[in-house]
Amino acid sequence: MSDRPSRPVSASAIEKHVYKVFPNDMNAHNTVFGGMIMAKCDRLALVVAERHSAHVCVTAAVDSIHFRAPAKGNDTLLFSLALNRSWGSSMEIGARVEAENSYTGDTRHILSAFFTFVALDENDRPVDVPEVRPETAEQRRRYDNAQIRREGRLSTRDQLARSGGKP
Ligand SMILES: CC(C)(COP(=O)(O)OP(=O)(O)OC[C@H]1O[C@@H](n2cnc3c(N)ncnc32)[C@H](O)[C@@H]1OP(=O)(O)O)[C@@H](O)C(=O)NCCC(=O)NCCS
Repeated sequence: MSDRPSRPVSASAIEKHVYKVFPNDMNAHNTVFGGMIMAKCDRLALVVAERHSAHVCVTAAVDSIHFRAPAKGNDTLLFSLALNRSWGSSMEIGARVEAENSYTGDTRHILSAFFTFVALDENDRPVDVPEVRPETAEQRRRYDNAQIRREGRLSTRDQLARSGGKP
């Protein structure tokens, strides 16, 4: 850890934010439209990033979005998001979505994803953010794994830049 101030994961996390599915959330296949779930994750991840950094933040990248099971018409979606790690100006936020059948209490894991947000200063330049303080074994595991993912993201970006491509 550096001299930068740190904040605990719990200070910015969102735990089981409830969203009741209605008919206008469905796709032609009569399951919940995945784009709606992704947009909602992005919006809630922004809240986590802005709580942690106390700055305006933008989405820089999203990776490893996995839809693990479909959500259905009568489901209630539960969104949980937490800051896994911060570096300079960037932060990785993990998102997990579950679908709850409110009549039986059964839950299913619907989606996992990782969002990278960058904090901006008043001139829209990236600005350093506080470090993240993991407090549980699970938060420590996510903190360690976030570093592995960051190295993959930056390595891909560098390789593409060298070949003249864009990420
Ligand atoms: C994200 C953005 C601010 C980065 O600006 P930049 O000039 O590339 O800044 P830098 O190269 O100095 O990188 C700043 C940080 O962003 C990270 N970053 C930039 N591009 C990234 C990417 N594609 N994936 C992951 N991290 C990225 C860098 O690793 C760096 O992190 P660090 O400070 O923790 O080391 C800029 O690319 C941007 O404004 N993108 C558009 C954002 C947007 O419109 N989002 C959708 C609406 S919210």
